[in-house]
Amino acid sequence: MQLTSKNLMRKWKEFWTSKDHKEIKGASLIPTDNSVLFTTAGMQPLIPYLSGKPHPLGRRLFDIQPCLRTNDIDEVGDNRHHTMFFMMGNWSLGDYFKKEAISWSWEFLTDPKWLNISPDRLAVTVFEGDETVPRDETSAKLWQECGLPKERIFFFPKKDNWWEIGGGVGLCGPDTEIFYDTGKPSCGEHCDPSCDCGKWVEIWNNVFMEFNVEKLGAPITKLPQQNVDTGMGLERIECVLNGYDSTFRNDCFKRPIEILETLSNKKFAFSNEFGKYFCIICDHIRASVFLLGDIQPTTPSNVGQGYILRRLIRRAVNCARKLDINPKDLVKVADAYVQYYKDDFENFIKVEKFILDEIVAEVEKFEHAIEGGIKEFNAITENMKAGDTISGKTAFRLFDTFGFPLDLTIDLANERGIKVDKQGFDLAFAEHQQKSRDNSGAMFKGGVAEAKTEEEQKILRRLHSATHLMLAALRKVVGNTVEQRGSNITVERLRYDFTCDHKLSADELKQVEDLVNDAIAKDMPITCEEMTLEQAKKSGAIGIFESKYGDKVKVYTMGDFSKEICGGPHAEHTGELGHFRILKEESSSSGVRRIKAVLE
Ligand code: ALA
Repeated sequence: MQLTSKNLMRKWKEFWTSKDHKEIKGASLIPTDNSVLFTTAGMQPLIPYLSGKPHPLGRRLFDIQPCLRTNDIDEVGDNRHHTMFFMMGNWSLGDYFKKEAISWSWEFLTDPKWLNISPDRLAVTVFEGDETVPRDETSAKLWQECGLPKERIFFFPKKDNWWEIGGGVGLCGPDTEIFYDTGKPSCGEHCDPSCDCGKWVEIWNNVFMEFNVEKLGAPITKLPQQNVDTGMGLERIECVLNGYDSTFRNDCFKRPIEILETLSNKKFAFSNEFGKYFCIICDHIRASVFLLGDIQPTTPSNVGQGYILRRLIRRAVNCARKLDINPKDLVKVADAYVQYYKDDFENFIKVEKFILDEIVAEVEKFEHAIEGGIKEFNAITENMKAGDTISGKTAFRLFDTFGFPLDLTIDLANERGIKVDKQGFDLAFAEHQQKSRDNSGAMFKGGVAEAKTEEEQKILRRLHSATHLMLAALRKVVGNTVEQRGSNITVERLRYDFTCDHKLSADELKQVEDLVNDAIAKDMPITCEEMTLEQAKKSGAIGIFESKYGDKVKVYTMGDFSKEICGGPHAEHTGELGHFRILKEESSSSGVRRIKAVLE
């Protein structure tokens, strides 16, 4: 039987039910706490229960958790990135531990009744141990008892076989990861599951979550209970087990791709120029359907989750245009997903009409804005002739006022042999950003260099957001006496002066780096709210308070990590920032230290 996402989900449900597990139903993409915009991992909603709080459904649980990650949004269009994906997980909340977890994983993967994978195709990795937690011989022995030969059990260090919520704080433990041999030739003598040549693909992670780190620098302690937390990416397992060259070959995308082929009269292939537009539409409309069909529905708007939904739908519209598809027909793709998933996601049945109506409405809104843009474009180009150039400022006005993507201006201009000053557009964009910075008044004392291009503008925004994360991290590591004294940002680096009465130790600097990188990894939304200074103070925002009463200030919030008064501009979410590294720490003046750091 072909393995489709539907029958994989069914098998997952049947298997864990047969092992006395209860299903957590109606898992939402919207987290219960608001530290992150979306649920990004299967275990996220279970954190309180893994820490000891009794779960109403008992100690053995499983689910199929829709997750959404926006940090890869620009990668969607290649053969494997998705914004929304499913993570299948099973949990023991202080019930069974390594023995059952490992033998059940083996059974699910290899038994002919379940996935029927040939054991020759599997390898596992286990934790090699360090000074605090011993080598996981137990797991290795259990895998051998299942029938896995010693040669396919690999011991790796913390960087490969340790799982933690993040930043060295919180729930953690060694894990054992299961890899599938794709059958590709090995890249050399030392090719093993830690190699990313493509021969080995990780398909399942079993975390033995029995430890906790209370706060930064605190010793690792045993949790009151030994938990199991596992995660298997549904898209990936379906893809590798079927030997597909891409997750977009998976069953759920078949009908949407057929619909797009018919509508566009074009054939889908990764190798042709249209492949990526097919993938983007398929991914974004599926994510949109799940956001609208969630038990806590999101609707398109200009803030928070709603803004992401709007962006997803509008990106899909732009791709539909590239394929010569009438964007209004995207609702047919949405409908295909509703029909495909409604047996497994019961809420879809109730809100089917709502999902489709919202997609239609948002597409129409965007189309309307674009129509306005086209009228304006026609007026602008009325007296132009082939070879003329639309100035960057004009192209930017179309973008700023009508939401007209630059690509579209270029396409329409091309049809008439007219050029567009793209560099000028980037400049106008940067100038606009500079203006909004200036308009945001004296509150922003950031000293951010002027960006020449859109790309530079992005770099500066990211570095600026990194200074907020760094200040929050410094206050966690050194204490709340740390305050900003100066900030200077160029495209190369950030430079930040802050109050501190001692030279920071290597350990303190490492902790700051780790905390910032952890906040980046969590991909928290960066949101901005305007409020009075009094309200800002009450909300717990830190920053420069010397403004008159009644003045409005902007408060930038990054998840639960940072809240600071600031004029902006910033990145949209922390996941955009990359990797944060401190280059140097030195004295600036008496009682003030200076850090130079980069994002790479
Ligand atoms: N929490 C583990 C993971 O996300 C299972 O890999």
